[in-house]
Amino acid sequence: MAAKPKVPVKLVSWDEIVEWSRGLASRIEESGWKPDVIVAVARGGYVPARLLCDFLDVTDLLSVQSQHWVEAARMAEKAILKFPYKLDLSDLKVLLVDDIVDTGDTLILAKDFIAREWTPKDLKIAALQWISPVAKIKPDYYYIEVKEWIWFQYPWTRLEDTMQFITRIFREDERVKGKIIREDELKSVFKEWYGIEPESLGFYWDMALEKLAAKGVLERVEGGFKAVKV
Ligand code: ADE
Repeated sequence: MAAKPKVPVKLVSWDEIVEWSRGLASRIEESGWKPDVIVAVARGGYVPARLLCDFLDVTDLLSVQSQHWVEAARMAEKAILKFPYKLDLSDLKVLLVDDIVDTGDTLILAKDFIAREWTPKDLKIAALQWISPVAKIKPDYYYIEVKEWIWFQYPWTRLEDTMQFITRIFREDERVKGKIIREDELKSVFKEWYGIEPESLGFYWDMALEKLAAKGVLERVEGGFKAVKV
């Protein structure tokens, strides 16, 4: 059996996203509650929120954007809301949607903001997934309860995540740091770190390497790749 990956990753397909969103919509419907407006937490909540609009027959879709800041002094991540605009939703029932409730910080922030600044008649939270052992809040609706932390590689961040996964190897793996590594070696280290085959990423693998080279993070050299500034 293969060794446990450093970072457990589950590749989520578009089909799974549709299936999970449909299941989530059913849970909401079965509860007898119907939102007037859906608010997507940007950017992870966009696709699920749009699918919920379709499945629940909701026309109005808004968004708030959260952003993570690394607090220099504490090296802790802090969530803030970008573009905090004001609205009056006093006559409306709002469903706030994100892809996943991990720590829950983003959703707590967005929920408090909307409750305070948009004053909706009612406000509930839905997410495709809820990592119950680490989350500070439980969403009103979720489709999958995750009991052990995993990085869910959603289809809308496939390139971004692949680039970050590769960068982390060049930054942290002693066998790779400062060396020239052949692409087949990189693929096997990648598999070890993340537990997924680079082949399963399709065109995203090549695209990630191309973009990293174009950004000057990696350099394509005779026989492989070398880190430049990771
Ligand atoms: N965003 C925050 N936590 C996540 C996780 N565990 N998987 C995918 N996206 C996330």
